[in-house]
Amino acid sequence: MEQTDRLPRYPFSDRGDRLAPELAELVRTCPVARVRTNSGDPAWLVTGHAEIRRIARSPAFAREQAGDPDSPVQDTPILAPELMGALAYLRRAGLLDEVRRTLGREQPDVPADWVRATAREGLDEMVRTGTPGDLQKHFAERVAGRALCRMIGLPVEDLPRLAEWADTDLTMNIPAEKVADNWTRLRDHLLDRLADRSRPPHDGLLFRLAERNTGPGRLADTQLANIVAVLFVSGYEDLASLLGVAAIHLLSRPAAVQDLRAHPERMPRYVEELLRVSVVLGNGLARVVTEDTELGGARLRKGELVLLSTDAANFDPEVFPDPERFDPDRAPNPHMRFGHGPHYCPGAYFSRRITELAFGVLLERLPGVRLALPPERIPWHPDRMAIMPARVPVHW
Ligand code: HEM
Repeated sequence: MEQTDRLPRYPFSDRGDRLAPELAELVRTCPVARVRTNSGDPAWLVTGHAEIRRIARSPAFAREQAGDPDSPVQDTPILAPELMGALAYLRRAGLLDEVRRTLGREQPDVPADWVRATAREGLDEMVRTGTPGDLQKHFAERVAGRALCRMIGLPVEDLPRLAEWADTDLTMNIPAEKVADNWTRLRDHLLDRLADRSRPPHDGLLFRLAERNTGPGRLADTQLANIVAVLFVSGYEDLASLLGVAAIHLLSRPAAVQDLRAHPERMPRYVEELLRVSVVLGNGLARVVTEDTELGGARLRKGELVLLSTDAANFDPEVFPDPERFDPDRAPNPHMRFGHGPHYCPGAYFSRRITELAFGVLLERLPGVRLALPPERIPWHPDRMAIMPARVPVHW
């Protein structure tokens, strides 16, 4: 009988400026390991790039089942099935193409000039408040929050409340009733917005989905609101986290900043390497084993919980030689920041594009921008599923 309380407790760290030493060790020595989750359940923690690739593509590991009431859990239980299977529900309702169009190459809601102006206004506001300024608040959270509101069609006045609900939803180790109550408020707010006749000047995805939600697999309003809430929470938290953590990585490398200033056309390469090294996944991507399987010398049994640490995989020396070295010319750079396989993030293009545009504005608007604290002294929010700096203090 396995003694769960003797297993190492995962997650290991709240920091995004470096990979947790425990993960760095596991990826080299034990890519499939036993851990205990916040809920006390045992799980397999997978850190190897090859092992995660295999799991992410195999039908023997299911994402949706991580929401089943009898599955082992990472933290608090998942509140509704459409929260883990949002895209499958949208597909059945004939609405997935609209989501893909909105987040894909067309980007109808967030034109480049609008993204640049939003980033510039945030930095102007930071400059007015005086040095040291906070890039997390005035740049990362502002750009991510406003982009998500505009893409979905929510008025920007809603943002402080939406951001608070999203932060709470992605905080671990809080009572399940608080998580459930918080979700109800967020979902009900979206239901109110849907019912509200006085729409914001910019319509957005929420209203386009509602208009098209007429087919045979039609979603109930609460399901639609749940799904749009998932899009807001994953999009806002992940993007605000990435922009803040990537800013720390970039600004702690003055030679990189100088190179980017001289060669702005190299921005996409820099963003790829920032995506690789920025540790933003505070927990693991959850899967449930659907048939007994052998992996990396371990025997995984049906019903067990598997957690994929794509952060660790992004430092796998088998795939990324000298993984600690920041190298925008790494080619190929098959990092897993947006996952891998059928559940690959639908917001990847949206996030890359906004990151490129926003960092372009940051370097142009504040030519002398630099961190006001060494990266190891940056404060982090505790227990976040999307690792988030509490502040990114800068001088300029
Ligand atoms: C830097 C920003 C982002 C990062 C790092 C990120 C990361 C990820 C990762 C790693 C996955 C795979 C999950 C898994 O395999 O279990 C994922 C899936 C997902 N992401 Fe993102 N994401 C980002 C932005 C966004 C945005 C902007 C949206 C939407 C507005 C979004 C919506 C989703 C959804 C709905 C899924 C689930 C896909 C499925 O069920 O197949 N993400 N994301």
